[in-house]
Amino acid sequence: MTFLFNSDARRGAIFADAFARDLPDVAFTIDAAVDPDAVRYLISWTVPDNLARYGNLEILFSIGAGVDQLRLDAVPPNVKIVRMIEEGIVRMMQEYVTLAVLALHRNLPAYLAQQRAGQWRDIPQAQAESRRLGVLGLGQLGQAVLDRLKPFGFPLAGWSRLPRQIEGVTCHHGELGLEEMLATCNILICLLPLTKETRGFLDAGLFAKLPKGAALVHTGRGPQLDHEALVAALDRGHLSAAMIDVTDPEPLPAGHPFWSHPKIILTPHIASVTQPATAARAVIDNIKRHRAGLDPIGLIDRSLGY
Ligand code: NDP
Ligand code: OXD
Repeated sequence: MTFLFNSDARRGAIFADAFARDLPDVAFTIDAAVDPDAVRYLISWTVPDNLARYGNLEILFSIGAGVDQLRLDAVPPNVKIVRMIEEGIVRMMQEYVTLAVLALHRNLPAYLAQQRAGQWRDIPQAQAESRRLGVLGLGQLGQAVLDRLKPFGFPLAGWSRLPRQIEGVTCHHGELGLEEMLATCNILICLLPLTKETRGFLDAGLFAKLPKGAALVHTGRGPQLDHEALVAALDRGHLSAAMIDVTDPEPLPAGHPFWSHPKIILTPHIASVTQPATAARAVIDNIKRHRAGLDPIGLIDRSLGY
C-alpha cells in the first residue's frame, strides 16, 4: 500500500518523515516509477495525465485548499477527492486578510501614493465600528478570517450558498442575501472557491452594488475577477482601493494596469501556502479516518465543484 507524492522534493522530504513516524505501514514515495497497482493514495496539485494507471487509487489529495485546478471529470467516480485543510493554510490566510483589511481601513494605498508624490497630508480616518466588512464564502477560510478580525471591532458579515450561523457575524445567503450584504459593505473580501457559478463573479454589476468608496480584498481565485471592471470602478472613484492576491493569468503580463495602478496593492498568490509539516499531519489523519470507514475531512462534492 503506497502513498505517491507528486510535488516538490523539499516538501516531500517532510512528508516522508511524517509517514515513517506516524503511518509506517503505508509506503511513502516521490518516485513516479513506483508499481502503479500499489498506489492507494496520491497527492498532487493537478491531475497527472497518467492517472488511469493507478487502478487501485482510493484518494486523490489536492496539495492546495482549492480544487479548481484539478480536472474532476478525469478522476474515476470511485476515487475520493480531498482538498487541503490544515492549520498552516488557515493561519496564513488569517494573517493576509488581516493585513489587507487594516491596510485598506487605514488608507495605506492612498498614503503610499502620497509618499511617492512627496505629499505630507492626513486623510480623514473612519473608525472601525463604521467600517463594515463582508466576506464572500463562509467555509474553512472565510470563517477563520472572520474569527481573527473580531477583536478589531468592525461590524462583520458573510455570505454563503446555504444558510449559516456564526456568532458575531451577520450571515447572508442566496441572491437576496448577497444584495443585502453588498449594500452596506465597505470592505469586501472574496474567499469563494472557483466554480462555474463564481467565475467572473466580481464584475461591474457587483461593484455597482457596493457603497461608494468601498474596497476589495481578493484572495479567492483569479478568474473570479473582471480586471477591466475593477480598474474602471477604481478610476471613476466608485471603489477606493483593492488588495489583490490572485489574477488570471498568473503572473500578469508586463504592462497590465494592476502592476502600476496607484489604488491597487498586488501580491503574487502568496496569501496562504500549504505548510508541509501540518499538511502531512492532516493527510495522515485523513488516511486513518478513511481506513476507519469515515469520510476524510475536506472531501469535495463533485457536483458542486468544491
Ligand atoms: P470551503 O469549501 O471551505 O468554503 C467555500 C465557501 O464558499 C462556503 O461557505 C460555500 O458556501 C461558499 N460558496 C461556494 N460557492 C458559492 C456560491 N455559488 N454562492 C455562495 N457561496 C458559495 O473553501 P475554503 O474556505 O477552504 O477556501 C476558499 C477558497 O480560497 C479556495 O477554494 C481557494 O480558491 C482560495 N484559496 C486561496 C489561497 C491564496 O493563497 N490566495 C490559498 C488557499 C485557498 P456553503 O457554506 O453554503 O457551502
Ligand atoms: C491553495 C492555493 O488553494 O495555493 O492552497 O491557492
